[in-house]
Amino acid sequence: MKVIIYSAKDFEMPYLERANNKKHQLTFVSEALNSKTAIKAVGYDAVSIFSRDEATIITLDKLKDFGIKYIALRSAGYDNVNLITAKRLNIKVANAPNYSPFAIAEHAVSLLLALNRKLMESNRRAEHFNFDLNHLIGYDLNNKTVGIIGTGRIGSIMAKIMHGFGCNLLGVDIKKNKELEDTYGLTYVSMKTLCEQADIISIHVPLNGDTHYLINEALIEKMKKGVTIINTARGAVINTEDIIKGLENETIGALGIDVYENEHYLFFKDHSNEILKDEYIIKLNAMPNVLIAGHHAFLTEEALTNIAEIMIYNIDCWNENKDTENELTQTSNEATTT
Ligand code: NAI
Repeated sequence: MKVIIYSAKDFEMPYLERANNKKHQLTFVSEALNSKTAIKAVGYDAVSIFSRDEATIITLDKLKDFGIKYIALRSAGYDNVNLITAKRLNIKVANAPNYSPFAIAEHAVSLLLALNRKLMESNRRAEHFNFDLNHLIGYDLNNKTVGIIGTGRIGSIMAKIMHGFGCNLLGVDIKKNKELEDTYGLTYVSMKTLCEQADIISIHVPLNGDTHYLINEALIEKMKKGVTIINTARGAVINTEDIIKGLENETIGALGIDVYENEHYLFFKDHSNEILKDEYIIKLNAMPNVLIAGHHAFLTEEALTNIAEIMIYNIDCWNENKDTENELTQTSNEATTT
């Protein structure tokens, strides 16, 4: 099969080539998929995309006209694909679920620890041989209450890790995970209760019509003063403007994000020589209690290997006219946002 890989990054190419083992003809392009770059897919059978690519109605219409039959995601999240349109056009879409929930959950924990123990500030000081300890006080995680929003693959690993730290666990999900309740003492509560009681909130729900701006001013007002919020899911699950207000009025004590509402034009590129006009990211960047990572929670050896293998497996199945269990239907996400 001829596959065009959009948003291809140097670091992932060796993993994809290895998983492919010369079975399919892979072409790597650095541009993201959108309505303008869709033209590059002429002559291919399948496109492979990542989280910043946009498979919107107009883009999918073009892909269909260009003869594309399959879309293989190199991500678990698929909020960037309009599945209803893909189904109407008979374009099959498959994601790469469960490639390494550990990579993402461990990244969430590293954001939490770096913020709580003020490691960025400590390292900045050490660079100047300043080993003063003032203003570096953190808090023990032991006995703190952690609220996990979304207790699926990643959220459940997060819950288990935080249980290991001796934390009390609260959860919000539309489906309960019995193992977390029975073995790890997680209690499912309402969003309101989670926000009122959690010292730390970690977000692991997909972005869809129900979760868009799930964390907003009304809920932030209910949160414990000084709460730490970690978001490794998708940027628009939190309302960035409201979260900035919460940081400014000190309701939120610390924020760690691997994803950002307006990341599509910003992340995965070097903007260090530009004057950015995005006021949110400028404000967040200026706050000492905010830690921003550029969507690299998935960047581990194991995750990259698995993403590549799952993607090639999906292509293999389609090439042999077989279904893949990773295929997404419109009911996978009825409230898709794009
Ligand atoms: P998952 O599907 O295993 O878990 C998601 C959980 O959220 C499920 O238990 C589901 O029932 C729950 N949920 C869905 N809608 C909800 C709602 N309205 N309210 C409450 N709970 C709801 O997904 P997984 O693998 O844990 O991934 C979660 C998200 O993490 C992905 O959708 C993706 O956006 C993000 N992600 C981010 C990565 C990164 O590099 N930063 C990498 C991989 C995933």
